[in-house]
Amino acid sequence: MSHIVDLACQPEVTAFFDGETNTISYVVKDPASSACAVIDSVLDIDYAAGRTSTLQADKIIAFVEKARLQVEWLIETHAHADHLSAAPYLQERLGGKLGIGEQITVVQETFGKIFNEGTEFQRDGSQFDRLFTDGDSYTIGGMSVFTMHTPGHTPACMTHVIGNAAFVGDTLFMPDSGSARADFPGGDAGILFDSIQKLLTLPPQMRLFMCHDYGPNGREIQWETTVADELAHNIHVGGGRSREDFIRFRTERDATLAMPRLIIPSIQVNIRAGDLPEPDDSGTRFIKVPLNKL
Ligand SMILES: [Fe+2]
Repeated sequence: MSHIVDLACQPEVTAFFDGETNTISYVVKDPASSACAVIDSVLDIDYAAGRTSTLQADKIIAFVEKARLQVEWLIETHAHADHLSAAPYLQERLGGKLGIGEQITVVQETFGKIFNEGTEFQRDGSQFDRLFTDGDSYTIGGMSVFTMHTPGHTPACMTHVIGNAAFVGDTLFMPDSGSARADFPGGDAGILFDSIQKLLTLPPQMRLFMCHDYGPNGREIQWETTVADELAHNIHVGGGRSREDFIRFRTERDATLAMPRLIIPSIQVNIRAGDLPEPDDSGTRFIKVPLNKL
């Protein structure tokens, strides 16, 4: 580990659950100051109507304003395929720098082709303020954060380790849910396995925060676990499952999964750092639907 884990640093974590997409967004506050970061925010969309709204994001704004927090960072753990990011909307109202993994350029290249984006769509990550590399660091108030590149679900997935809390994106799910799919363009089950092993080298008491939960078998929605709990109980990788076995299992399972309901609008918006596509001459913005591509 290139950075020293500081378990004595204990950020205050507030979760915001979006029932439409089963996404959990977080406000992570430095206990010693008013500084915070917002991780994986959600912009609402009524896809049938082509209408966006800000109900979820406004809850975060209300929370931040009531507590008089200073937003220093808006973090995307990856380019989500199941919900639109509200980062630009939050940035306009609350400030903060927008960051994602540097491999977003690979995601932009891949999906730039799928959506036949014109040359005006930059594939260099320049829509973001900061591109994180493996072992990178930054601060939230007095807290030091370090990033771990944890690809596999997507090439750009990063885990952000903030004191005794790690925000794992979709690299892991709760122990009874296992792991996220690895079959999107650019995904790789073997690489996902390696990333999960890397994550599980963090201290056993490290708090892990998920980006999604679907409440399997009727249980309540949960989003927090620990490294020790994942090692002991994760249904996909716990109990010392081999890489080969995981790849076989993950590949077979992914072949049975339908595409996420919102993948088409989500990817087009999220590869633009949450900005909607540029309007045409009439001033209207459009989402494209590529036929027989996904
Ligand atoms: Fe995801």
